Amino acid sequence: MENTIFVTGGAGFIGSNFVLQRIERDSASVVNLDKLTYAGNLHNLEAIAKNQRYEFVHGDIADRGLVRGLLERRKPRAVVHFAAESHVDRSIRGPEDFVRTNVDGTFALLEEVRTYWGGLAEREKTDFRFLHVSTDEVFGSLGPNDPAFSETTPYAPNSPYAASKAASDHFVRAYQHTYGLPTLTTNCSNNYGRFQFPEKLIPLVILNASDGKPLPVYGDGKNVRDWLYVEDHCEAIATVLARGRVGQTYNIGGWNEKRNIDIVETICDIVDEMAGSRGAPRRGLITFVKDRPGHDRRYAMDATKIERELGWRPVETFESGIRKTVQWYLENDEWVRDVTSGSYRQWVETHYSS
Ligand code: NAD
Ligand code: DAU
Repeated sequence: MENTIFVTGGAGFIGSNFVLQRIERDSASVVNLDKLTYAGNLHNLEAIAKNQRYEFVHGDIADRGLVRGLLERRKPRAVVHFAAESHVDRSIRGPEDFVRTNVDGTFALLEEVRTYWGGLAEREKTDFRFLHVSTDEVFGSLGPNDPAFSETTPYAPNSPYAASKAASDHFVRAYQHTYGLPTLTTNCSNNYGRFQFPEKLIPLVILNASDGKPLPVYGDGKNVRDWLYVEDHCEAIATVLARGRVGQTYNIGGWNEKRNIDIVETICDIVDEMAGSRGAPRRGLITFVKDRPGHDRRYAMDATKIERELGWRPVETFESGIRKTVQWYLENDEWVRDVTSGSYRQWVETHYSS
């Protein structure tokens, strides 16, 4: 086995932050398998494209021959599985891709990893890890006074996206229980930070606010999410990978519950401050639009276990993280122009016009 981490979906938002962070902070090599869907962007990884410890492979996690060949050639000590269709609204409009990648793709990956792992020497088998990156959405929706999700909260996924992630979590669990594959699962709350595709609330609002366009808020804007800065999430994953107990799941969160409307107003104020408001505060652009079907009211994460067992806690506060994020989007014109062409524009037209 080599000191190599096999990452799937490493050209997406969280995956690319993770790959960059690991190349900078670790000695491991990283091989990144990504299909480059609309959400995958190699520009995110330009800084390390020529790094000797990094290899990019264009392909699908469901391509078993490709995955098999890669595992045999690179002999990784760990797989960190980010690849997924990740956008709830897209899953409502077209769930099939979510089943194909999140369920069938995860299954195919698990099968190939099981074969590879089965062929390792005993010591290597013990040291190997398969870390599955999942979401708090598998737990469903909370009432205003319910306790936050813990690792033992029953699954109750409400959107096709959440159902597909829940299915993949169950497969990972079953592979550990049945075959002894050394798996770890992390369930994380909403991430924000650089490289997030602007179909998601925070980058969408930053870019629309900066362009003076309407800021669409679903329903009454009082849905609550827990927000975590992406670099904190990546550190948490690295921590679980290094020291998590095999077969366990770990909730990761920011201890930072916020209503959507409060997020949007905060961004308006920061964009006004950073870009200048020219006398018309951007809060005036807020537009309440038709609600998301089946919209989960509240998510909250109890991230006590990862802190108690592994000593991880988020470093960034929401106030500092959101300022860094707004600044990044305002300063990275070229990245923004690149992703806002093509499929993104088409999505915005279809989704927000109905
Ligand atoms: P993303 O949509 O930004 O990126 C997904 C990446 O996976 C893209 O690079 C895409 O090209 C790639 N991909 C998609 N299908 C593939 C396939 N069949 N084979 C290979 N690559 C494929 O997603 P993200 O926001 O970075 O999320 C990454 C993971 O973290 C997902 O599993 C998601 O469920 C989970 N997660 C996300 C959040 C969040 O707030 N964004 C929170 C918790 C968990
Ligand atoms: O909770 C973790 C999940 O967070 C991840 O598993 C998903 O991959 C990720 O996409 C995210 O899901 P959400 O549905 O919570 O994120 P999104 O940014 O799409 O929406 C955040 C909230 O903002 C949600 O309540 C819906 C609302 N919203 C979203 C958009 C795009 C709006 O009010 N207006 C919008 O235009």
